[in-house]
Parts: sequence; structure tokens; C-alpha cells
Amino acid sequence: MSVILGINAFHPGASAAVLVDGTPVAAIAEERLNRTKYYANFPRLAIHKCLEMAGLTFRDIDYVAVGRDPLSNRMKKIEYVLRNPSKLLNLAKIKAARSGLDDIKNLFSRECNVAPRDLRFEQINIEHHLAHIASAYFISPWDRCAGFSMDGSGDFVSCMIAECKGKEIHIKNRIYVPHSLGSFYTMICEFIGYRKYGDEGKVMGMAALGESTYQEYFQDMIQLSQDRFELNPKYFRPFGSAQGMSINEKGEMVINRHYSDFMIELFGEPREPYAEISKRDLDLAFGLQQQFEKIYMHMLNRAYQMVPEERVAMAGGSVLNSVANGKLFEATPFRKTTIQPAAGDEGLALGAALYFSQTVLRDKERYVMNDAFLGPEYSEYEIRAALEKGNVHYERLSREKLINTTADEIEKGSVVGWFQGRMEWGPRALGNRSILANPCLDNMKDILNSRVKHREWFRPFAPSVLLENQSEIFEHTHPSPFMLHVYKIKPEWREKLVAVNHVDDTGRLQSVAREENPLYYDLIKRFGQKTGVPVILNTSFNENEPIVCNPGEAVDCYLRTKMDVLVIGPFVCSKPE
Ligand SMILES: [Fe+2]
Repeated sequence: MSVILGINAFHPGASAAVLVDGTPVAAIAEERLNRTKYYANFPRLAIHKCLEMAGLTFRDIDYVAVGRDPLSNRMKKIEYVLRNPSKLLNLAKIKAARSGLDDIKNLFSRECNVAPRDLRFEQINIEHHLAHIASAYFISPWDRCAGFSMDGSGDFVSCMIAECKGKEIHIKNRIYVPHSLGSFYTMICEFIGYRKYGDEGKVMGMAALGESTYQEYFQDMIQLSQDRFELNPKYFRPFGSAQGMSINEKGEMVINRHYSDFMIELFGEPREPYAEISKRDLDLAFGLQQQFEKIYMHMLNRAYQMVPEERVAMAGGSVLNSVANGKLFEATPFRKTTIQPAAGDEGLALGAALYFSQTVLRDKERYVMNDAFLGPEYSEYEIRAALEKGNVHYERLSREKLINTTADEIEKGSVVGWFQGRMEWGPRALGNRSILANPCLDNMKDILNSRVKHREWFRPFAPSVLLENQSEIFEHTHPSPFMLHVYKIKPEWREKLVAVNHVDDTGRLQSVAREENPLYYDLIKRFGQKTGVPVILNTSFNENEPIVCNPGEAVDCYLRTKMDVLVIGPFVCSKPE
């Protein structure tokens, strides 16, 4: 038996994953356990939880694969320092912050409270974007495809194109920092008042409300050439080698100012967070998304030229741009995508481990990810204890009755907390840690926002649809199992699906096949039989916090918010009087 522990550490989305004989058996981001969103230090709890889920101890670990490689792209780093000697200190600081990884056994021993003699593993470092691409290719059913990764930055690179073939990933192209489409996205988000790490998704939803007012400026911000793009420094403050991000003492990501004074000269004062959103902000969001898509498609088309396959395996934070993903079938020759559900940096733990397993150990087992349920699961006993503690009324139902009751509640307009089985890996709730609601009620968006989610009015809620009904409702048939594609909703369904139809008549769908999640599938099916609509509104089970992980957090969130019903394991619950 070979055991690989993959980790992403001292980088946003700290996480861990365990592979046994090449098959992922557990994976989780630290934020779900320590409740700090995008936690960026050492994934201590995630490592413990993964070993617990796998039924292993520290002594069982043969290899630790880290999703970063300080030795990669060294020439570029040296060139950078020679060109920017003032940044030497900055680079040294980053290096110092991550130096724990240089002596990883010591780090594990200290952080995980384990005796050094119990650590017999070997350490392997995998370049950031190679780990991203591996996280997608080595979960696909393919033995040949293009590989594509894009984000803010990692190991000095912001975009990688590769040829994936058999057990090999051959790098074909890299874009080096500071040129980064992720940093470009962050800069505009920040300018229009979204200054938290991970706010990009909110702005993507906002873009649909704007107009093409600033096209020329956006064209000027990024220059395109044959196989690369370059940011125009006029618009950006020099980011430094950390691309304008730092980690504070709590392990949270902090975004430092990215926009230049020239941006203020052009567009006026930046919007303060939570201030009113003006037409300028909406139009900037629109221009940003439009320009992002243009460069994204340019690089994907370039990937196709380098690797002329109809299939592409994708990961990296920018690949969470589901609006762009929904359009790539029209804008590029690619016809099939496999996207790692944890496309952001938490996915590096799994990617680094898969890369080592396939490419170096050449594990025979080739894993295909049909579902993203690699997180922890809780027993009925643990669930019941949390319900008792919360003083919640509960009733235990048979599977059949549970599905029926839940479908009835959703139909009549209740907001239902739905907690089942193993937690999702990656940022999307896919029907195991979800809040569910009726997509056909025209006030449902406002109800969800006022009672539970408190999100901005312009952000859409997502539909889960039975896979076999997707082509009837959406204008694209390519499945989206991990909620990573946005498609147009067909005209005849737009009015009906009022709570999930965005202003531009699109939806970020999750297509649900029965083998991926039988219980959730059966629930949607039952709802469809009752209402004629095989679609349920699905949003993550949380209230401005990381998605709930354990039953206690689910019960707390249920009691704290105005959620109507909690369905957790076999129990249907109502609130104490
Ligand atoms: Fe990344």
C-alpha cells in the first residue's frame, strides 16, 4: 500500500488530501475546520482530519507532496530581482514565511504534535500550476488532452498550458508574473469596493448588470500578443512578487492596493466597500468580465493550437469563472472540459498528490472523479447529539418519507437546510451541505437574502437540474457536475425559473446524475414530479462563513438564521418554540 499526503500550505486555501494506492480517499480545506475563510497557513486540522477519514496514522504516510516548488522558474526569479532590486526584501520575506516547508519533518512534528521517529515520509515538491493541471487531468476519464491553468500567481507563474498524455504532463507554455489575468481581475474588484480575497465571484455576477462603456480602457489595460498577454503598468501599482497579497497573523489573506493613481484620474475615487454601487462600478465590472473572457479565450485557443485535442483539463482560481467556462465551447475549438471542483488553490493538495502518484510512482489505478464528496461524514449518533444540544425538535424518517417531506417543504416555499453524507471538496455546495429552495417563487431570492444569506441583491442563486433534463432547460448540453459553467436558460423556462434566472437569462447550473448523488437526485426528481420542474435552487449551507462542515455548525446556522426546516441525515427538524 502506498500513502501520499498532498498539502497546500503557507498559501491561500491551505488544505490536505490523502491518496491510497493512487485513489483519493479524503480531502478538505483547512477553512472548513478552523472556520477562517481561505486560511493561508499550515493545514494542521485538515491533515489530521484526512488521516482520520482514511483510517491512517502519521506513520503510514510514505510521501508528502507539496503543491509548490521553490526551485521552479528560478531564472525568472533571478531576472526579477535583478530588474527590481528593491523587491529583494519582499521576496526574502515570502521565503522566510514559507521556510517551514524547507524542513518539513520538523514542521509536521511541531504543528501536528507527533514524534519525529513516527515520520518516515519522503517530501516531494510539485510546481504550483503543474499541480493545478494534474488536479484536473488525473481526475478525468481521458488519456490525452490539453491542460490549462490560470490564476493570480503561483511559483512565479500565472498561466500554464500543457500537453497531457498517458501518465505525463508536458509543459508547453508559461506566463510569468507580474502579467496575470487573476491580478487584473483582483485590481478592478478592489477598485469597485470588493477588497476581500475571493470577492471575484461576486463581481462576476455584477458584470451582467453593466454596459460596455469603458471598452477602450480595458483594451489598453492588457496587451495581447501571439502566445501571451501583458498588463499595462500604467493601470497597476507594482504588486511585488506576491502579486499584492499578504498573509496576516491570523492566517487570513490581505489584498494590498493594486490599482494605480492613473485609475483614479480616469475613473474617479474608488468605491468604498458597502457604499452604494454606481453605474460606473457596474460598467467597470462589465468591462472587466468582457476583457477577462477575451484573454481567457485567447489563451485557450493558444492551448488548442499547441495541443490540438477537443478536450481540456482545467484548474486554477481563474477557472472558477463559470461565466467564461460556459462560453468556451463557442469561443474555442474545445468540446469537452474536465474542471477540478477545487479549482482554486485548495485543489493543489490533491493535484500535487495525483501528479506524484501518476507521473512518478506510476500508480496503476487511474482515478476518475465522478463526485466531489471527499470530506467528512458524521454518524446518526453524532447528528442526534448536535440536535439534542441545540434543543431542536426532530423526527426520524425513512428515506422515502424524508424525500417526500423535503420536496413538499421546498414546494411550499420553505428554506431548507440540507445536510447529508460526506462534505463537498471545493468551494461549491453540491447537495450535501446545501440550502435548498423553490426556484419558481418570485420572492425566493429576497427571502433567502433577508433570512439567511445576506448577499448583494445582484448575485444570482444556482439551479441544480437533473442531468437528463438539462438540454430541455438550458441552451447547452455539456454537463456541469461541479457547478462550474453558466449557460443561457431557454426562453420558455426563464419566467418559470424566476429565482435562479440571472438578469442576463443565465444560470450557473449543477447537472445532477443519479450515480453522483442518489439521494439528492431522487429529491430533485420527486420535486419535479410534484411541480413539473426538475430543478431545485441550491446555495451553500452557511451565513457569511465557510460552508458548515459538522452537524453542530449546521444546527447553529439553522438556529441563528431564519431557515425554516433542517433536514440532517434521516432527521427532519423544526425550531424550538
Ligand atoms: Fe493557483
